[in-house]
Amino acid sequence: MKAKLTKAVFPVAGMGSRFLPATKASPKEMMPVVDKPLIQYAVEEAVSAGITDMIFITGRNKRAIEDHFDKAYEVESELAARGKTELLELVQSIIPREVNCIYIRQAEPLGLGHAVLCAKPVVDDEPFAVILADDLIDGEPPVVRQMTTMFEQHGCSVLGVEEIPREQSRQYGIVSFEPEKEGVERISAIVEKPEPEVAPSNLAVVGRYVLTPRIFYHLERVTPGAGGEIQLTDAIATLLTEERVLACRFQGTRYDCGSKLGYLQAMVAFGRKHPEVGPSFEAYLREFCAVAWR
Ligand code: G1P
Repeated sequence: MKAKLTKAVFPVAGMGSRFLPATKASPKEMMPVVDKPLIQYAVEEAVSAGITDMIFITGRNKRAIEDHFDKAYEVESELAARGKTELLELVQSIIPREVNCIYIRQAEPLGLGHAVLCAKPVVDDEPFAVILADDLIDGEPPVVRQMTTMFEQHGCSVLGVEEIPREQSRQYGIVSFEPEKEGVERISAIVEKPEPEVAPSNLAVVGRYVLTPRIFYHLERVTPGAGGEIQLTDAIATLLTEERVLACRFQGTRYDCGSKLGYLQAMVAFGRKHPEVGPSFEAYLREFCAVAWR
């Protein structure tokens, strides 16, 4: 197994039903937070961790994602002709030159575990990251980099985790853990979407995974779990009976952009620090709050 991660898997075949009708004809991962689509934030996070091969597990209606990371001849020549060099550079710099984009179609929506298994022919015998674009995490350093650093130190799988209100446990994979030493927590169990009364803790996996290739062995053998789907969580549950799996309590703020409230929160947070509109948006917010809650 390689010691350094070069591959990231982005499962993007989901329907995005919580955002209908916005997601009727375009993928939820293309929804923008200010001026960048969610999937671009996810790819930039991977790039910051030195990852060069981006593997998208796509489904029907996902052409826009391929187009986004491809060269846009018409847009580029139009911008060049009009002398709009700054915008031209912006469009051309969406993805660094050394980065490869690989697309694999998941023909049927059989679950997150199945989506990750679709990446096996490309990932083969290497460790890799899995990034769920609708968990937008504003971290410094970016969360995948925090996790790859842990992977490089310990040589085992690492899951990004965060405390959640216990009553929300049925939305997440929930872990229990044992402290190994200062700052290192080993995951001892993981359950997909448990009821709050039986959840092993209030520590949830939130859309970031670094996995050893051994996960494929388990994914090929798990049976459908929560929601009748092939769950990544269930494969991790058997992986951790034979390999160490660590929890990474990352530094950063997560926005659940799979929910409308989380998406709006992300828009406000990223709007406030946007180099172009940040100051005027902040001024607007202050005035808005003063008037709305006078
Ligand atoms: C998926 C995973 C779950 C994880 C969550 C993070 O669930 O199955 O274990 O906690 O992402 O956002 P989904 O949100 O796709 O239902």
